[in-house]
Amino acid sequence: MKILLIGPQGAGKGTQAQRLARATGARHVATGDLVRAEIKAGTPLGRTIKDYNDRGELVPDDIIVSMVMERMKGAGCWILDGFPRTRAQAQALDAALGAAGCEIDAAVAFEAPDDVLVERLSGRRTSEVTGVIYHLTGNPPPADDPGPFVQRDDDKPANIQHRLAIYHRETEPLKDYYARQDKLLRVDALQPIDTVTGTILRALENQGDQTVPTELPQTRDRYAAAS
Ligand code: AP5
Repeated sequence: MKILLIGPQGAGKGTQAQRLARATGARHVATGDLVRAEIKAGTPLGRTIKDYNDRGELVPDDIIVSMVMERMKGAGCWILDGFPRTRAQAQALDAALGAAGCEIDAAVAFEAPDDVLVERLSGRRTSEVTGVIYHLTGNPPPADDPGPFVQRDDDKPANIQHRLAIYHRETEPLKDYYARQDKLLRVDALQPIDTVTGTILRALENQGDQTVPTELPQTRDRYAAAS
C-alpha cells in the first residue's frame, strides 16, 4: 500500500490512517504528528514551526518535504496523512518517488461539508498515551484506553475556520492534480468510521478493475462510474 490522504481538517484522515496502518502494516506518516512532536521536543526546528502550527498556517514546503522524506526512509508501504497539501509538495513527492522508481497507488480524497467538520474538531480528543483519536460523543474512548485525553491547541473555533479556508485554497486543487494522474479516489467522509475504512480497503483491492463495484457508491473517478 502506497497511498496519500487528502481532506479538510476533521474529515477523518488521521482516524482512517491509524486504522489502515493497523490493518495493513503500512507505515503511517502523519505530517501533523511530525510537526507536533518536533514542537513538543523543543528543538530549534520545533521553535521555528510552532507559530505556523498554532496559527493554523501551513509550515513552509521545504521543511515539511524534508520531514516526510526522513520519515519515509526504509518503508516499503506507507500512508501519507496530510501530505501533500500544496502543489509544490505534490511535485516534490512525485520527483522523489520517480527517482526511486515507484508511484502512489491512490490519492484518497475525503469529502465532507465544513459545518460537520467544525463539530467534529470541537469534540475531538486524542489519547496522550496511545495517540488514538476519539470524539467525545461520536467515537468515545473505550474502557481499555486510560487516557488522559487532550484537545489540540489548533482546534480552537477561530483557528478551525482559518485552517479550512487554507485547505480550500491550497489543498483542494490537488484533487484535480491526482485525477489527471488517474489516481484519485473520492470518499464520502460522512459515512460511519467503519464504513469509510471498508470502502477504502475494498477500493484498493479492486484497483485496476474496470467494473464499477456496486458496494462503493461513494467513490468516483478511477474507481467508480464517472458522474
Ligand atoms: P494535521 O495534524 O494534519 O491537522 P489537519 O489537516 O488540520 O487535520 P486534522 O488532524 O485536524 O483532521 P483529520 O482529517 O485527521 O481528522 P481526524 O481523523 O482527527 O496538521 C496540523 C498542522 O501541521 C497544520 O495546521 C500545519 O500547520 C502543519 N502541517 C501538517 N501537514 C502539513 C503539510 N503537508 N504542509 C504544511 N504544514 C503542514 O477526525 C476528526 C474528528 O472527527 C475526531 O474526533 C474523529 O473521532 C471524528 N471522526 C473521524 N471520522 C469520522 C466519521 N467518519 N464519522 C464521525 N466522526 C468521525
